[in-house]
Amino acid sequence: MKTLIINGSPRLNGDTAALLRELKSHLTGEITELSAYRDDISPCVDCRYCYEHAECAIHDDMQTVYDDDFEVVVLASPVYYGTLTGPMLSLISRLQIHHTAKHMRGVPIPVRPKVGAVILTGGGKGNPDGAVRMARITLRILGATLDDSDIATSFNTDTLPARDDEAAKAAVRGIAERLNGGAG
Ligand SMILES: Cc1cc2nc3c(=O)[nH]c(=O)nc-3n(C[C@H](O)[C@H](O)[C@H](O)COP(=O)(O)O)c2cc1C
Repeated sequence: MKTLIINGSPRLNGDTAALLRELKSHLTGEITELSAYRDDISPCVDCRYCYEHAECAIHDDMQTVYDDDFEVVVLASPVYYGTLTGPMLSLISRLQIHHTAKHMRGVPIPVRPKVGAVILTGGGKGNPDGAVRMARITLRILGATLDDSDIATSFNTDTLPARDDEAAKAAVRGIAERLNGGAG
């Protein structure tokens, strides 16, 4: 099983990282992690190259996503202002090649069917609806299904850091077990 984790947190040792540590210590198979903050991934600049071509004009670490060599994709991010973090949204903007392929050129870019999961953290009560909606859209573009039980959250991290949130860590372990048993 090959898993791609897309990490939308700027904090190396923060709340999202704590839940990802839990996930990675229970997930079997090959894991690749992309950081929306640290890897070289530019935003879509609407250059419209993909109106004519089945690829992006920008060559950077987004190629890992474009290569589509995964059976599992995990989106992990803090909630910022009710949605995913800016660099995470910026990375997601690069999936525009799929939209233009389908709607402008009428030739969808094939995607490998996969299983998706979502991990969200929030300092307060999260108000995660926007983040979940964006994650669902992203997973759909990537060809991933998402079961509601595969969304793990740790909110109120201002008072209980995710590393001490036993319920959230148990939810993440549940995701790992389901993925180990079902995908690929
Ligand atoms: C710019 C900014 C916006 C934020 N917006 C929200 C929010 O809308 N809801 C929430 O619950 N927490 C919000 N937070 C708090 C973070 O989501 C929270 O601290 C999270 O646990 C950080 O995760 P990390 O350590 O993985 O980066 C915000 C934090 C920042 C810096």
